[in-house]
Amino acid sequence: MKTLIGKESELAERQIVEIGHSEVLLLQHEGEWFALAPECVHEGFPLEHAVVKQGAIICPDHGWRFSLRTGEELRGEDGVQPVYPVHVEKGQLFITF
Ligand code: FES
Repeated sequence: MKTLIGKESELAERQIVEIGHSEVLLLQHEGEWFALAPECVHEGFPLEHAVVKQGAIICPDHGWRFSLRTGEELRGEDGVQPVYPVHVEKGQLFITF
């Protein structure tokens, strides 16, 4: 379901947003928006403050690296972080969740 989050220009570069009864981590990286499950698929560590670089988010707990675009674990671990499409239309940001 496509959900309006808010005006792009008023959103923080990284924040937890609520969609229904769920939470999604929304962040901007190199000018592009990404949305993903806020807790690591490995053992549930919160990713809100995790380092993001080169298109990946790095879980602080055990260092798994997830592609922001696909959720794929880039070190070869057996896990895929849920990611959700983000669209901006006429300045409004939507997440399909
Ligand atoms: S909890 Fe994230 S890598 Fe283990």
